[in-house]
Amino acid sequence: MPDIGHRPVVEVIENHPRVGEILRDHDIACVDCTEASCMLKDVVSIHNLEPEQAEELARQVAAVLGVDPDEVEMEVSSGPTRSEPSPVIRILNDEHLTIRRLVGLTPAMAEQVDPATVSDRDLLHGAVEFIRAYADRYHHAKEEEELFSLFDQNLEIFQVMRLDHEMARGEVRAIEEATESQDRAAVAEHLSAYHDLLEEHISKEDDVLYPWIDRQLTDHQVGTLFARFRQIENEMAEIRRRSEEFLQKVEQALAVRDGAGRVSGQTPKTN
Ligand SMILES: [Fe+2]
Ligand SMILES: [Fe+2]
Repeated sequence: MPDIGHRPVVEVIENHPRVGEILRDHDIACVDCTEASCMLKDVVSIHNLEPEQAEELARQVAAVLGVDPDEVEMEVSSGPTRSEPSPVIRILNDEHLTIRRLVGLTPAMAEQVDPATVSDRDLLHGAVEFIRAYADRYHHAKEEEELFSLFDQNLEIFQVMRLDHEMARGEVRAIEEATESQDRAAVAEHLSAYHDLLEEHISKEDDVLYPWIDRQLTDHQVGTLFARFRQIENEMAEIRRRSEEFLQKVEQALAVRDGAGRVSGQTPKTN
């Protein structure tokens, strides 16, 4: 089997499920990975295995594939040489895109939504729930609790990021309170503040903090974080499902608003 090392690891696992089990035994979570870009030969360097473990892994994989261990070409990396974001940073970048979908809807919400109606209060409560579940629990479980915690929290950049998170939580509380008191102007004001805060915060993370972090992370840390991120995703799969469902519903609802500021087909109730 020529060039086996240069075949995508997901394809190798698909054809030889036993290879996935072997990787799992070595705490390598390629089986759960949806990225199709890693080559089999990269598995060892991405996960920064010790030479003895790399040799053992190559021997086991080669036995399943019926090739010589040398053909698997697994090599130990001398250090991170990434020209693109690591897989863990890509996961967080993608989650920012999801959060930005909600943030992108807030100007329309501020303009069109009236908390005096039951349906609009439901929509606003849904937005608050989305932010708390998807941004605060699902995303921050990885970003704050796993990634940031690998670094010195006294560094100013982490203090700024955590302060942003706190301010965002404050704006979300304010949106919730304004919804409860049916104060349309306050709802609009805090939706707008949340929008501006998040746009700037996500840009700081995507453009400055994450690239800096990626240059500090060892390949071993990337591998460990990746496995942990997948575990969190499995534990919180329901949050991801509900969040996506909510986004689609609101995108659709705001798109079909009629000129009177109501969701089409709905009669606003005022209690
Ligand atoms: Fe953040
Ligand atoms: Fe973030």
